[in-house]
Amino acid sequence: MSDAQSTLITGIGELVSNDGQPDDGQSNDGQPNDGQHNAFAAMTDAALVIAEGKVAWTGPAARAPAADSVVDAAGRAVLPGFADSHAHLVFAGERSAEFAARMAGRPYRTGGILGTVEATRAASDAVLRANLRRLVAEMLRQGTTTFECKSGYGLTVPDEARGLALAAEVTPEVTYLGAHVVPPEFAADPAGYVDLVCGPMLDACAPSARWVDVFCEDGAFGADEAAAVLAAGQAAGLDARVHANQLGPGPGVRVAAAAGAASADHCTFLTDGDVDALASTPVVATLLPGVEFSCRQPFPQARRLLDAGATVALATDCNPGSSFTSSMPFCIALAVREMGMTTEEAVWAATAGGARALRRTDIGHLGVGARADLILLDAPSHTYLAYRPGVPQIAAVWQAGAPASRRSPPSGRRAAWSRA
Ligand code: NIG
Ligand code: FE
Repeated sequence: MSDAQSTLITGIGELVSNDGQPDDGQSNDGQPNDGQHNAFAAMTDAALVIAEGKVAWTGPAARAPAADSVVDAAGRAVLPGFADSHAHLVFAGERSAEFAARMAGRPYRTGGILGTVEATRAASDAVLRANLRRLVAEMLRQGTTTFECKSGYGLTVPDEARGLALAAEVTPEVTYLGAHVVPPEFAADPAGYVDLVCGPMLDACAPSARWVDVFCEDGAFGADEAAAVLAAGQAAGLDARVHANQLGPGPGVRVAAAAGAASADHCTFLTDGDVDALASTPVVATLLPGVEFSCRQPFPQARRLLDAGATVALATDCNPGSSFTSSMPFCIALAVREMGMTTEEAVWAATAGGARALRRTDIGHLGVGARADLILLDAPSHTYLAYRPGVPQIAAVWQAGAPASRRSPPSGRRAAWSRA
């Protein structure tokens, strides 16, 4: 390769590319694919070249071109970095007592959100930034190279604007969630709060955000209110996503479909009509199994959605209440064990599915031209993410072609994962 920065990763036991080319043993020799990345795809005994922050070549290791530096994967697997399309990372305080009480038999209610709102409003910018950056570093160590981050624990004009400005320091996927819950000062005037969210708060927040979201649920916002919030956000140039059907059946998925949202998130309680709506529109069904784990709810029926033809993504919903995990590998393991997904479907949903939910074509796959966001797994195949739950297996992470996080240097010698 002529580029002075090129890196060859060779000796890859399994290269998960999601580029629509199953293991045909062929090099793609610089040919970009159609950009659809509809299916899990992988090849064995592979190599990949990074140049200028992008994937420049993939193919059989035996045919790999030369590069300026070489990494020997020693039989390990390489995957696209995880795309966590749903997270609430700007907050102060913690709610471990609420979790313990729930495990002792008390059901999850939205009331705990207001405790985090109080702590977040009282926190300095420095505290919120430090908390946020700690979680971002934690995600990166676990292979998440792209993440979405919502506001929603401020619920005043300055506090929501502050949360979004902080989020914009660490990700382009910033979501305005002023419509998380009605704050106590508006308890007697929820319509007045919706007006604030759709008016002055939106004006202050839209410049820092790409997305608008609403928690459409009993106890939060109803169908008409949610539709109004999404329409106002869209008029201000934001794209829509929705917290839908988390705690019970409801209108969230229908509201998301009517608004042309990128994603309906949670999807825990779905009617046949909701499943049809998700299967017949481009709305991604984003499933958040960390919530069901932490709230001891029934898991979403991924198999039902996949069999109907819906596009499914997996995300963490990392937040201090309903799901305080930042681990995409944990979500993959839950999806495989508890939600009827195959290991291939779960890994696709956590990479290409998350990219779809964020309307991104440059990530979630390792086709030629993709951003070189990738994970070196300390295991020979993607299956190990579910097969060895709870075990740290992310050996190294690259973001836009640069090494970002490394647990321990991969050894040059053939590891236990070698197929040779
Ligand atoms: O996605 N559903 C609403 N919001 C969060 C929960 C936030 C919290 O419990 O603090 C969620 O689960
Ligand atoms: Fe959420």
